[in-house]
Amino acid sequence: MKKIIAILLVVTLIAGLTLSLTACDNNGGGDAGHVGIAMPTQSSPRWISDGNSLQDQLRERGFETILQFGEDVVADQISQIESMIVAGVDILVIASIDGSALGPVLELAAAEGITVIAYDRLIMDTPNVSYYVTFDNFAVGVMQANSLLMGLGVAPFGNATGPFNIELFGGSPDDNNAFLFYEGAMSVLDPLIANGTLVVRSGEMGMDIVGTLGWRAEGAQARMENLLVTHYTDARVDAVLSPYDGLSLGIIAALRGAGYGTDAQPWPIVSGQDATQAGIQAIINGELFATVFKDTRDLAAAAVEMIEAILAGGTVPVNDTTTYDNNVFIVPSYLLDIVHVDATNWRAEIIDTDYHSIDVFVIP
Ligand code: BGC
Repeated sequence: MKKIIAILLVVTLIAGLTLSLTACDNNGGGDAGHVGIAMPTQSSPRWISDGNSLQDQLRERGFETILQFGEDVVADQISQIESMIVAGVDILVIASIDGSALGPVLELAAAEGITVIAYDRLIMDTPNVSYYVTFDNFAVGVMQANSLLMGLGVAPFGNATGPFNIELFGGSPDDNNAFLFYEGAMSVLDPLIANGTLVVRSGEMGMDIVGTLGWRAEGAQARMENLLVTHYTDARVDAVLSPYDGLSLGIIAALRGAGYGTDAQPWPIVSGQDATQAGIQAIINGELFATVFKDTRDLAAAAVEMIEAILAGGTVPVNDTTTYDNNVFIVPSYLLDIVHVDATNWRAEIIDTDYHSIDVFVIP
């Protein structure tokens, strides 16, 4: 392993030097410490907000920062982390692309005495992660399923008994969160499927079947198109469980292509997550029923608090020490709350809190 570490160090030395030069432009003084921020992608706007919030809040407090996006390529994220290690960061904040792929590079971080915080997504199968800061991911799934019941008017939100046709979509199987979202949702939906209120006409259930690799909208759209032509030529789909606004928009595109979104064939109830600009616009348009709002500014603030406590040698704020098992140990975690957002409260939750500006939306 020492040999591998030495090779990695040499390979990343040049990149690291370049990065540390860039980091000088980026820094907020650096007296407080040096933080490497590895985000997974810019293809979903939430990660851009996460990265910017972290960087801004850290710089305000006198930290030097390096922010990099892996653009959903696992090998690129690993080499970005290697470069941050070579650049001499004190702390790594990582939202992983593949939560199980970081073991070797985090051994390198541990050898350099760098503390690692898993940001939003748990880093799996390694002892070399110290803390996890996230939202209550199981609760996200519960909220998504409840939004479907709310839209359908099923108890506890109404008296409708169905049967309603529902299809299920999961997130990316390399992201531990995807399983928690699905488990949370199914804890609500399974009993209703068992008693016949909800019918999965395709029979497709379980993360191994309904997962969407890379959280790709095109993948969800293609699967929804396939479900519609195979199972819904003579029936209507009434609800679709979707774990993320990006996937919901792919699903909605497939539904539109099959003639949904008219008076004769209204939109099914579709769930979402992240309160993305496109997601909120779809709520305004009446296409998406609801999203789960996770305020990334608060997540960044929680990570910054952790970082300051770690570097000051103080007590690191955690509020969950039993749930997040990464297959090696239970990672001490700080969980934040989530908010259901639909057509009735998007202005109060999203505009009035300045998460998005009203100017970016087209209001009919
Ligand atoms: C995050 C979600 C996000 C998804 C896709 C998950 O790990 O928790 O907020 O929708 O990744 O980017």
